[in-house]
Amino acid sequence: MALPASDKTKEPDYRTTMELGAVLPLTAEVRDDRLFVGGVDMVELAHREGTALYVMDEADMRARMEEYLRAFRTRYENSDVIYASKAFLNKEAARIVADEGLCLDVSGGGELACALAAGFPAERVFVHGNNKTPQELREAIAAGVGRIVVDSRIELARVSQIASELGVTQKVYMRITPGVEADTHEYIRTGCEDSKFGFTMLEDFAFRCVRDALEAPSVELVGLHCHIGSQIFALHSFGEAVEVMVGLMARIRDVYGVVLGELDMGGGLGIAYFADDKPSTIDDFAQVTVDAVKSSCERYGLPLPRLSVEPGRSLVATAGLTLYTVGILKTLPNVRKYVAVDGGMSDNVRTALYHANYEPTIANKAGQPRSEIVTLCGKHCESGDAVVVDMPLQHPDIDDVVAVFGTGAYCYTMSSNYNGQPRPAIVFVKDGTARVTTRRETYDDLYGRDL
Ligand SMILES: Cc1ncc(COP(=O)(O)O)c(C=O)c1O
Repeated sequence: MALPASDKTKEPDYRTTMELGAVLPLTAEVRDDRLFVGGVDMVELAHREGTALYVMDEADMRARMEEYLRAFRTRYENSDVIYASKAFLNKEAARIVADEGLCLDVSGGGELACALAAGFPAERVFVHGNNKTPQELREAIAAGVGRIVVDSRIELARVSQIASELGVTQKVYMRITPGVEADTHEYIRTGCEDSKFGFTMLEDFAFRCVRDALEAPSVELVGLHCHIGSQIFALHSFGEAVEVMVGLMARIRDVYGVVLGELDMGGGLGIAYFADDKPSTIDDFAQVTVDAVKSSCERYGLPLPRLSVEPGRSLVATAGLTLYTVGILKTLPNVRKYVAVDGGMSDNVRTALYHANYEPTIANKAGQPRSEIVTLCGKHCESGDAVVVDMPLQHPDIDDVVAVFGTGAYCYTMSSNYNGQPRPAIVFVKDGTARVTTRRETYDDLYGRDL
């Protein structure tokens, strides 16, 4: 797919890097015209480690994790924050999540294996996915994961059988599709009725399946789960979803005589990808969710359940940035200016996949105003291969180091080897120190498995 037509009326914003506001990682600063994150010079880092390069600001990640826990636990003591590892996961990230006291959502055998290899406590792991294979279920149950979030009736039977074979009782949630239309891109909207995820409430299917779950051997249904979508700005959608979920819990009590003790409301809080974005805060999200749970439970006369949320993007996206080196410049008169970087849809597919966009800066000109409108295209064989489309940037030159902000979520985890591109390294920066936590892939990593 080609890029959307360029907006010829768009003017540069003349902002300097530090004027990009909420898009910047916590420790971003400019010293002598150069971008520093975590006290580390991004230009030097790019030259030393090569580009494309993923950089994570550890202080930013940890601060947001602490903010989430504080926001929920001060309002609702019996609550957990579960980090959705699909947003970003390597062993170091799993260690930080464990250290900060969060739980972990994994969506496949690979994410579970990474968490366990990093020493993440299995009992704090929640297992998701709409088509977990029997093998993945067996691995999860054998490892002693805390909860399996069952996504279908077929899976319920599988979990029951595997748990019986292993001689254990597995605690499960049922993922419900609450029929709430979250105000976000259709590709990342998951709670509406036409969704591959979860038990539909159409024709009362989900409610009828609760009986199966309550009766299934070797399975203990302890709670319900929903996730209505991602990058959501309008908090009322979360309140609506709570109302549906608590209503269902009340019916389960009334008809089946069972009070479920846990409710997981998923993730989805939006973040600022653009300097002018005004997403809701973590505090506001907590307030809306907690208020809705408390008032719905009171209305239905239900005891307050253990409440959890599963943020991914809002924990790690802003902590991350990607560094690239400018290789080629092409100005197409009256069309657009292409700045070609040494990565693209292989390290960040979001722009090509759902027209995401980002704020860029030139790390070696970070104190200068962004005086041009450019498209940062990648190096891949697709016309739609771009990371940034029609955004302001300082005047670019060959060999400049470009930093693209807000790439901490759904970039590394969605990366590919398209065109034989080795995946970038991941560097965590903190207090003036940079440590490589995942090394860059080599050609041998790409083709060494070939027989
Ligand atoms: C089940 C589930 N929980 C949590 C998340 C995290 O969502 P976000 O990154 O928007 O917070 C997702 C993302 O798609 C998800 O599918």
